[in-house]
Amino acid sequence: LRTILLGPPGAGKGTQAEKIVEKYNIPHISTGDIFRDNIKNGTELGKKAQEYMNKGELVPDDLVIEIATDRLLKDDCKNGFLLDGFPRTVYQAEKLDAFLEAHGQELDKVIDLEVGEDLLMIRLTGRRVCKACGASYHVVNIPPKKEGICDKCGGELIQRPDDNAETAKNRIDVYNEQTRPLVDYYEKAGKLASIDGSTPLEQTFKDIVAALGE
Ligand code: AP5
Ligand code: ZN
Repeated sequence: LRTILLGPPGAGKGTQAEKIVEKYNIPHISTGDIFRDNIKNGTELGKKAQEYMNKGELVPDDLVIEIATDRLLKDDCKNGFLLDGFPRTVYQAEKLDAFLEAHGQELDKVIDLEVGEDLLMIRLTGRRVCKACGASYHVVNIPPKKEGICDKCGGELIQRPDDNAETAKNRIDVYNEQTRPLVDYYEKAGKLASIDGSTPLEQTFKDIVAALGE
């Protein structure tokens, strides 16, 4: 299965991605996670990406494309993958198409998670992530058993630096300007499945599986 999860910040891409990769046994490739790992490890790439991420802007295309295609060349992607947060511009999508074509591969489906802006803001500002393992929670919707502590590993839960209200709003605006055109792009390619991402997460997952096939 070769698939992309599209959708605005806070639509639930990361949350659903965890469930999708488990069911279909494919690697989860999140460009956002790759950048955050690099920031944590203090790499040059991390330093470059951080400047943009902290403002809620997109990291420059060329940097992202190189990272994503390097990752797609790894052995575990031979039989499928889930891309989360990539592509994010029409230019990135064109480069991905060219890459897949050059490797004799084709996308099966693009899942577009749709959620209204008010709900996105509630989800983003209420999100807490585990400093140690990256697991994601929500203070109201998906609270951890013990406040501030990760259920899975006992790590400390923190707010992502780009989840404050001002930066979150900017990320949504950037999505509408630069990423939303991809909905049309994949619709025209006959690949798009639009899913309501505002439903409870088990329902959203069922709808995604129905679109991808068992
Ligand atoms: P990235 O890490 O990709 O972030 P994003 O797209 O902004 O998406 P989020 O991780 O914020 O949201 P999500 O949809 O995964 O939602 P989640 O499941 O956590 O990118 C970060 C930055 O990196 C970008 O701003 C950019 O600078 C850079 N970058 C990355 N890729 C790039 C690219 N290709 N090109 C250029 N730059 C790039 O859910 C959100 C919250 O809601 C959680 O608290 C969750 O618990 C809760 N929730 C989820 N689903 C439900 C539900 N059904 N019901 C109730 N609550 C729910
Ligand atoms: Zn954890």
